[in-house]
Amino acid sequence: MPKLLIRNARLARPDGSIIEGDLLCHDGVIERIAAQISISADETLDAGGNLLLPGVIDPQVHFREPGREYKEDLGSGSRAAIKGGVTSFLEMPNTDPSTSNQAALDDKLRRAAEKCVANYGFFIGATPDNLDEVNRAGPACGIKIFMGASTGSLLVDKAEDLERIFANGSRLIAVHAEDEARIRARREQFKDRTDVAVHSDIRDNQSALLATELALALSRKYRRRLHILHLSTHEEVELLRRDKPAWVTAEVIPNHLLLNVNDYARLGALAQMNPPIRRPEDNAALWAGLHDGVIDFIATDHAPHTLEEKRKPYPQSPAGMPGVETSLPLMLTEMKAGRCTLAEIQKWMCHGPAAAYGIRNKGKILEGWDADLTLVDMVHARPVRNEEMFTRVRWSPFNGRKLIGWPIYTIVGGQVAFDRGKIRDGVRGRPLSFT
Ligand code: DOR
Repeated sequence: MPKLLIRNARLARPDGSIIEGDLLCHDGVIERIAAQISISADETLDAGGNLLLPGVIDPQVHFREPGREYKEDLGSGSRAAIKGGVTSFLEMPNTDPSTSNQAALDDKLRRAAEKCVANYGFFIGATPDNLDEVNRAGPACGIKIFMGASTGSLLVDKAEDLERIFANGSRLIAVHAEDEARIRARREQFKDRTDVAVHSDIRDNQSALLATELALALSRKYRRRLHILHLSTHEEVELLRRDKPAWVTAEVIPNHLLLNVNDYARLGALAQMNPPIRRPEDNAALWAGLHDGVIDFIATDHAPHTLEEKRKPYPQSPAGMPGVETSLPLMLTEMKAGRCTLAEIQKWMCHGPAAAYGIRNKGKILEGWDADLTLVDMVHARPVRNEEMFTRVRWSPFNGRKLIGWPIYTIVGGQVAFDRGKIRDGVRGRPLSFT
């Protein structure tokens, strides 16, 4: 394997301190870190004093392959990831067909090996009757349960079906926690409203809280490893702060930190997602939850739909926003504004998700760890521009927002995958394994 030398970088240490120096990648791992490394490598990058971070691990994306490749596929989604400094992703099973058996998982793995520029892992989706498959199919990072219906056909909303899944097996269960019965009742109740802001009233805070309470109760009853996806309400943060078993983790999406119901006026259905954007007090509670560790890490829930689809009148407009390409610059911009530290960014976006999913040797810049890295520009602010997006749908809810921290180079397994604005040909990610 070729040697890649990165010179003159400001290297982020896991504790948030920074050292100036060089880093040598060999055989896909970080072989050496030193103030100066004088060897002749196969390729040498001048980091120009920019900040070198561990590659981001995005533990929740929807890349639409197979079935909806006109929105995204594993190639375009992984290129968008790499552009955003995301070197590994975990992808959701609500494709078409859904990833709910070994054959569908094998198919995704085969497709990913052909075209993914980033490292990849996949969830297996639960249905009311695939208990054996969700426990056996592999490799998978966990079982995904949609407790409330969202994009696609996966849904497990009956208490007895949920209980059967929690009671049998030991694999991580990740829940989309929204209460389907309450959502259906409220959809009926609000049926005369067609403004998109009603989305947050229909799928209200209580809908999320009810499902999160049920998942927590089942997890406690069976001591089952539980991950709560995209926490969105202050009520859920308070619930977990009172009572979070050691085997439970939770995540938050930048959209739920940085957008709220006031943004519907500006963004319309572009801001429609499940669970929905909430109120400013929920934004504040989610930040507080991240800071005090109630929320363990950040995912994007990258969920591309075309602008044409998003322009349909509510409720035909689909839920979800792209995000994999902007999460790191968004969070680094927040860091520069003083809302978090470099140690927190790495915990929330790099080694936190790695630890939760048992992904070894990723998420820290340490000798012997995997050479998944991103070099970011912390000096020049540039706006998000729809026309520059790599996601196939080519839009972002943050279009126009000026951000710092855009990647200059992204390195996957010691190979330069993103090179000053362009994806290099021929680089491929690897399948992740989960311990
Ligand atoms: O808004 C969402 N969109 N939430 C989900 O849970 C699914 C996602 C999608 O796949 O479109």
